[in-house]
Amino acid sequence: MLWVTLLSTIALGWTTPIPLLEDSEEVDEPCFEPCYCEVKESLFHIHCDGRGFTNVSQVSQSWTRPFKLYLQRNSMRKLYFNNFLHLNSAVAINLGNNALLDVQVGAFNGLSLLKRLYLHENKLEVFRNDTFSGLESLEYLQADYNVIKRIESGAFRNLHKLRVLILNDNLIPALPNLLFRSVSLTHLDLRGNRLRMLGYRGTLEYMGRSLMEIQLEENPWNCVCDIVQLKAWLERVPYTALVGEITCEYPFHLHGKDLREISRAELCPQLSEEEVEASLGIPRLSSGKERTWPTKPSSMLSSNHNTASSVENKERHLKPTRRSRPPKASPTPRSAYPGPNQPPIAGYQTRPPIPIICPTECACSLHINDLGLTVNCKEKALRNISELLPRPLNAKKLYLSGNLIQKIYRSDFWNFSSLDLLHLGSNRISYVQEGAFINLPNLRSLYLNGNDIERLTPGMFRGLQSLRYLYFEYNVIREIQPATFGLMPVLQLVFLNNNLLRTLPVGAFSGTSLARLNLRNNYFLHLPVSGVLEHLQAVVQIDLHQNPWDCSCEIVPLKQWLEKLSSVIVVGEVVCRTPEVATGKDLRSLDMALLCPELKRSAPPSDNAAAPAPPDGVISPGNAGSSGFAPTRGVIPLSVLILSLLVLVVSAVFAAARALCPRAEEA
Ligand SMILES: *[C@@H]1O[C@H](CO)[C@@H](O)[C@H](O)[C@H]1NC(C)=O
Ligand SMILES: *[C@@H]1O[C@H](CO)[C@@H](O)[C@H](O)[C@H]1NC(C)=O
Ligand SMILES: *[C@@H]1O[C@H](CO)[C@@H](O)[C@H](O)[C@H]1NC(C)=O
Ligand SMILES: *[C@@H]1O[C@H](CO)[C@@H](O)[C@H](O)[C@H]1NC(C)=O
Repeated sequence: MLWVTLLSTIALGWTTPIPLLEDSEEVDEPCFEPCYCEVKESLFHIHCDGRGFTNVSQVSQSWTRPFKLYLQRNSMRKLYFNNFLHLNSAVAINLGNNALLDVQVGAFNGLSLLKRLYLHENKLEVFRNDTFSGLESLEYLQADYNVIKRIESGAFRNLHKLRVLILNDNLIPALPNLLFRSVSLTHLDLRGNRLRMLGYRGTLEYMGRSLMEIQLEENPWNCVCDIVQLKAWLERVPYTALVGEITCEYPFHLHGKDLREISRAELCPQLSEEEVEASLGIPRLSSGKERTWPTKPSSMLSSNHNTASSVENKERHLKPTRRSRPPKASPTPRSAYPGPNQPPIAGYQTRPPIPIICPTECACSLHINDLGLTVNCKEKALRNISELLPRPLNAKKLYLSGNLIQKIYRSDFWNFSSLDLLHLGSNRISYVQEGAFINLPNLRSLYLNGNDIERLTPGMFRGLQSLRYLYFEYNVIREIQPATFGLMPVLQLVFLNNNLLRTLPVGAFSGTSLARLNLRNNYFLHLPVSGVLEHLQAVVQIDLHQNPWDCSCEIVPLKQWLEKLSSVIVVGEVVCRTPEVATGKDLRSLDMALLCPELKRSAPPSDNAAAPAPPDGVISPGNAGSSGFAPTRGVIPLSVLILSLLVLVVSAVFAAARALCPRAEEA
C-alpha cells in the first residue's frame, strides 16, 4: 500500500514525463572516464558519484540525448558561471553530498531541460535572486541539510514549473514576502528550520492553490496573536495535508502545545472574534461558512467520528473558551488521500521508506531523518493501551490524546523503548502504576495534562532518565511526594498549573536543574524557599500567577527570593489574596513593614528557623531504595534488536525501492 501511495504522489507531483529514449536498451553514446553509464527505464544515466571531482567542468563530455547525471559525494565547493553549458540535455542532476558553499550567478545557464536538481547535504547558506536562473523547466528542487539562512524574495521567480521544494533541516528564520508568487508548489518541506511565523499576506496567500502537502514540524513557532493567520489558513485549505504537528515554542504558557488545538481566543485574548477575523486578511471562501470546513488538515482526519462527545467533554477541562468542534466536512475527495490506517503521503522523502507497522485504529507516518515513526492515535475512543496492536517498530512519537484511557500499566509501554514523545493528554487517567514508564529511557516529552491524576510519586517516574518536558496541567493534583522529580536528572520543564496544590514538599526539585516551572492557578498560600525553591538555581521562567498568596510575615523569604530574580523570569504577577491590607497587591511591591509589623521589634524571620531541612536525596524511603536501580537494564538489548531489524528491512527494501521510486534511487 505504501508503494501505491508513494507512486501516486510522485505521479501527481511530476507533471510532465521525462523524455524517453527509444525502447533500445543499448548505450549508443560514449560514456566518460571515470564514470559509468547505463540505460535504465529508457533513460541515459551517467554515474559520476564519488569520483573526486572538484569542478563540474571536469566532466568534459557532452551528450545529445536526455540524461541524468549523478555527481553526489564529490568534492565540489562551488558552482561556476556557465559550469553546465555543455551539459544542456540533462533532465536531472544530483549534486548532493558535496561541499558546495556557493552557486555563482549564471551557474545553471543552459540547463533549460532540467527538471530535477538535488543539492542536499551541502553547505549552501543563501538562495539569491539569480541562483536558479536558467532553470525554467525545473519541477523539483531538493536542498535539505544545508545551512540556508537567507532566501531572497525573487529566488524562485523564474521557476514557473516548480512543484516540489524540499528545504528541511536548514536555518531558515523566515520566508521573504512574495517568495512563492510565481510558483505553484504541490509539496513543501520546511521541517527543522527556525521559522516562528508564517503570515497570510505575501506568503500563505500564494500557497493555497495547489499545495497537497506541507511539513512544518520542528520549528520554534511563536504562538502569539499573529499566528492565527497560519492557523486559520490551515483550517481553510481543505485539501492540504499537513504532516505532523505545529508545536509552539513561545510563549511560555503555550510551550509544547499544537497550534491547531489552541483556540483563537487563547491566542488573541485582547481581540474579539470579529477583530481577529478582520486581522487575518484571508478572504472568505465561496461557501462562506467556516464551519463546513474540516478543522484539521485532511491527513489527520479520522474516519472515526464517534468520540466527538468525549473529546468535547474533556475540552471543558482544558480550554474553557474553545468553541465546540464544528461538524466535519465529507471525506476529502483526493486520490492521494491516505486511508485512516495508511501513513500520510510519504512522497518525496530523502531516503527509501521502510514498510510501516502501524496499530489498527492509528495513522502512522515515517520520519525520514531517523526512520522513526509518528503514531497518531488521537481521539479513537481507546480505553486501554494494550489495545494498540500490532506494536509499531521504532515508534518515536505516540499521540494518544483525547481517548478514554483511565489507567496506565507498567506493561503498556514494554514495546515502545524508542519513544521520544508520549502524549496522553485529555484522557481520564486517574491511576499510573509505579514504574509505568520504566521502559522508556529515551523519552523526552511526557504529556499527562487534562486527566484526573491526584498524586505524583517518585515511583511513577522511574526510568525516565532522558525526560526533559513534563506536562501535568489541568489535573486534580493535591499532593506531590518528596523527591518526586529527583529521578529525572535532565528535567527542564514542569507544568503543574491548574491543579489543586497547596504546598510542595521539601526537596521537590532537588536533583533537577529545572529551567521552567508553571505553578499558576493552584491553592498556594506560601512556598518555602529553604529546601524547595532554593533548588531552582537554573530557573529561567516561573509562573506563580493566580494563587491565593497570603502575604503575611511567613512569605518574606519568598518575597526576597523573587526580588533576586529578574522580572523576565517571573511570569505575570504574584498577587496577594490575604491579609486584607495586601489584597490585590503584587508581593514584590509591598513594603516589608506591611508584611511583618513585628519585624521592627524582633529579628526578621528566617526560613531556616523552622526545622532544619534534611539533606537532599534522603527524604523518601522510596528514593533510598531506588538508588542502585538500573532502569536501562534489559532495554538496550531490545533497542539494539530493533535497530538491527531495521537495518535488515531497509536493505531488503532498498533494492525494491530503486526500481519503484525515482527519488529514492537518486538519494
Ligand atoms: C571550474 O571551472 C570553471 C569553468 O566552468 C572555471 O571558470 C573555473 O576557474 C574552475 N575553477 C577551478 C577552481 O578550477
Ligand atoms: C530580488 O528580487 C525582488 C523582486 O523579484 C526584489 O524586490 C529584491 O529587491 C531583489 N533582491 C535583491 C537583493 O536584489
Ligand atoms: C487493560 O490492560 C491491562 C493490562 O494489559 C489489563 O490488566 C486490564 O484488564 C485491561 N483492562 C481492560 C478494561 O481491558
Ligand atoms: C512486547 O514485548 C514483550 C517482551 O519485551 C513481548 O513478550 C510481547 O509479546 C510484546 N508485545 C507485543 C504486543 O508485541
